[in-house]
Amino acid sequence: MEFEQWLKEAAARTDAVVCAYLPAEEGYQKTVLSAMNYSVKAGGKRLRPLFLREVYRLFGGTGREEEPFMAAIEMIHTFSLVHDDLPCMDNDEYRRGRYTTWKAYGYDMAVLAGDALAIYAFETAAKAFAMTDRPDRVARCMELLARKSGIYGMIGGQTADVELTGKPLDRQQLDFIYRLKTGALLEAPMMIGAILAGAEEEQVSTVERMAACVGQAFQIQDDILDLTSSREVLGKPVFSDEKNHKTTYVSLYGMEQARKEAERLSREATDILETLPGSHEMLRQLILQLVTRVK
Ligand code: IPE
Ligand code: IPE
Ligand code: MG
Ligand code: MG
Ligand code: MG
Repeated sequence: MEFEQWLKEAAARTDAVVCAYLPAEEGYQKTVLSAMNYSVKAGGKRLRPLFLREVYRLFGGTGREEEPFMAAIEMIHTFSLVHDDLPCMDNDEYRRGRYTTWKAYGYDMAVLAGDALAIYAFETAAKAFAMTDRPDRVARCMELLARKSGIYGMIGGQTADVELTGKPLDRQQLDFIYRLKTGALLEAPMMIGAILAGAEEEQVSTVERMAACVGQAFQIQDDILDLTSSREVLGKPVFSDEKNHKTTYVSLYGMEQARKEAERLSREATDILETLPGSHEMLRQLILQLVTRVK
């Protein structure tokens, strides 16, 4: 199958799984439920759950217990975006082609919707216990999801990103921020896919290394697009980093070096992928395509 066609179908399948686990908008807390769904249903590339399923399949997974985790990782990712856009953080007004959650629902509801998505993600992931005869793997994935989302993962990265805003950064600090704020939420789904499918310990570590390269490359390309794209194409504002005095890979090393580094990292990721079992042509193309993506 052609890659483009494969991606279209895989993204549609992923979107259906994510939406199937969203909460009903009812009761006295209806406003926050609708704010949660507003941000998730706005779309996005669904890259993290897509990677989760593809790595699960790569290691021979055939069940459906990966599906609650697919929804959970997209909820956590969306929570990170809802809070990232808040006036006290990046102060952005557009996301995924619509008003950001705080613009549409108010600051208070956006904080609550982010909190709610973060917690509901774990309520959702726990549904996998009833869908497997390997609850030990599900338990391990829940711990991993928490660690990569929290202070040793995405939240830790966002903390350093916010605190070091406007200050000169060195390469080590920048790598730390990218690895945690962006890399961790790509490492988690790929590792979860591997663990649920029963991959060996060493293979899970290999997947983590591969995903870390994908994450770093992904954030560099995000920084490039912030300077080279448009709000219409991206669905979010451009020049957000400049507005917020963020040090990025591009501001430190320039556009050409940034492109080269993103390409190098994505080739490193696909080299690691080649060492894994199974058929990986589509995954390989997906990883390579991320550093030339336009949104
Ligand atoms: C945006 O992630 C935030 C970053 C980590 C750079 P995506 O570019 O995957 O956003 P969506 O999910 O497609 O909206
Ligand atoms: C944020 O990085 C990554 C998150 C954990 C949300 P950015 O602030 O660059 O993400 P965008 O550009 O707003 O999507
Ligand atoms: Mg940010
Ligand atoms: Mg931002
Ligand atoms: Mg950005």
